[in-house]
Amino acid sequence: MRRGDGLLAMIGNTPLIPLQFDDCQRTVWGKCEFLNPSGSIKDRLARTIILEAESRDAINSDSIILECTSGNTGIAFAMIGAARGYGVAIVMSERASGERRKIIEHFGAKLILFSESGYQHGIEMTRQMAESDPRYFLPRQFENPLNTADHEHETVKELLAQSPHKIDAFVSGYGTGGTLSGCCLGLKKANPDTKVFAMEPSEAALLAGEEACCHWIEGIAGGFVPPLMRNVPLDGTLKVSSPDAIAMTRRLNKEFGLLVGSSSGANVCAALDVAKQLPKDSLVVTVLCDRAERYFSTRLFD
Ligand SMILES: Cc1ncc(COP(=O)(O)O)c(C=O)c1O
Repeated sequence: MRRGDGLLAMIGNTPLIPLQFDDCQRTVWGKCEFLNPSGSIKDRLARTIILEAESRDAINSDSIILECTSGNTGIAFAMIGAARGYGVAIVMSERASGERRKIIEHFGAKLILFSESGYQHGIEMTRQMAESDPRYFLPRQFENPLNTADHEHETVKELLAQSPHKIDAFVSGYGTGGTLSGCCLGLKKANPDTKVFAMEPSEAALLAGEEACCHWIEGIAGGFVPPLMRNVPLDGTLKVSSPDAIAMTRRLNKEFGLLVGSSSGANVCAALDVAKQLPKDSLVVTVLCDRAERYFSTRLFD
């Protein structure tokens, strides 16, 4: 047994639950990723990248995990760094909610903020820092194929075992694209008839060929199409406006008792749109990505 093994074993195997919408007589299924130990789907990627780095001695007790993130990946690495005894430095936009910053610092990680919008400036900062200090270990969540592979094998294995019958459609937003690319590849390998759709904010529908502008759905659509999304055999894209995402998130909070954040609401909006186009007993799956507690200072709680 290694330090932190118990914590790592808590990651994944999240429930898949039915969400019944009586108003439109449709049910969509939500994978409860907010129940991971640090509160988001990002625990999966952080676990897999650290275990793989340990297996090839690419990380040791002097290492500092350095990552650019909108917050959830930072929280996941800060948690695992605390449990395993690694240093962690997180580069994030100063626009990310204060709650996320506080959680990262509370785990003992260092926070480096930047003011530019989008992720690309932060990614470049991590590259430059790593060039000048060999102690930095870069997980590179935006381009690391382990991000996709983890969902393709682990998340999809769970989905296939948990679904009451064959999955007709899977819908998800993208930040790094790891969830969407991995689930798309894995689900289509298991059943080529499963349709997979990308959800994008209406205000930043890049895959739909539009310009990226400001939106309120935290954790997704960072202003560029990430490399992991290239060549993903999607069946289509759906747009969800920021106000609709917040309204659905509040419904999930108040009518379903699920304390999830705004990307979960956006995902459920899009999944419901897909379900409405399909026969009533179709199985449409989406992801409930993270917890609402990290958004007290945002519009969600206004
Ligand atoms: C709240 C939230 N939802 C969804 C996602 C998207 O996940 P992925 O990076 O796998 O595309 C993220 C990613 O950071 C996130 O923080």
